[in-house]
Amino acid sequence: MTFTPLSLPQGIIQLITDELPSPADFILHQNLISHVKEHKEAKRIILSVSEGWARWQAIASKHNVNLTQQKNSGSLTFVDVSSFEPEESGLRPIFNVVFGALKECTPDSLIILDDVSMLEWIGVPALEILRFCRALRAQCIKHQATLLIRHHLVVHDKPDQLFRDLLQLATYHVDVRPLASGRSGAVSGEVALHLGPNALSPTSVKPVSRSRAVQYRLTDSASVFFERGNSRGVL
Ligand SMILES: *[C@@H]1O[C@H](CO)[C@@H](O)[C@H](O)[C@H]1NC(C)=O
Repeated sequence: MTFTPLSLPQGIIQLITDELPSPADFILHQNLISHVKEHKEAKRIILSVSEGWARWQAIASKHNVNLTQQKNSGSLTFVDVSSFEPEESGLRPIFNVVFGALKECTPDSLIILDDVSMLEWIGVPALEILRFCRALRAQCIKHQATLLIRHHLVVHDKPDQLFRDLLQLATYHVDVRPLASGRSGAVSGEVALHLGPNALSPTSVKPVSRSRAVQYRLTDSASVFFERGNSRGVL
């Protein structure tokens, strides 16, 4: 067993999808927290549509990461996307913030876009979202940064057009779902990993099919991954 959603390489584009009963917030938060701990000199940019600053900060502080300090020192740029009224003014002003923040950054930076479904729901056209993600991806490739894009799948097993278009941009698709058999106390959900068209050589990270998906359990402040049927074992 080599895969957990937190062990993917840097400098890639991840499309992270989830469903209502199995939100993937924990993957975003934990990526951010490990990034702060492991890449002290790098830059982090959070483009948050649905979650306020307070929640990001509260979760990080449980892991002894002080995001206010990060923000004050300039290592973190937090963008409250809805305050830009993107349904009125488009996504260009937000892209400009990212562009400016990445200008002087070191490699290994991290950009989190949370989430594209909410952008669509507040009325930003899908085509504009796609163009925005393409532009973010180009910046990330140029600066060797990692981009995490989160998208909610509303209808189980019926990928929407925006999802299919975003998948074309991705190195990996991290697919978070509830258990087919329903929620259980020991297992919160499962995660499969699909390779995108831009995946690195298949030897570096192997795909994990739905039938072999890694299971996880969320606790108050952490997530625990284990192989199917092995909810006592911990990776
Ligand atoms: C986080 O950092 C800020 C600014 O340095 C400080 O005011 C605040 O008390 C810190 N919070 C915690 C929980 O340590």
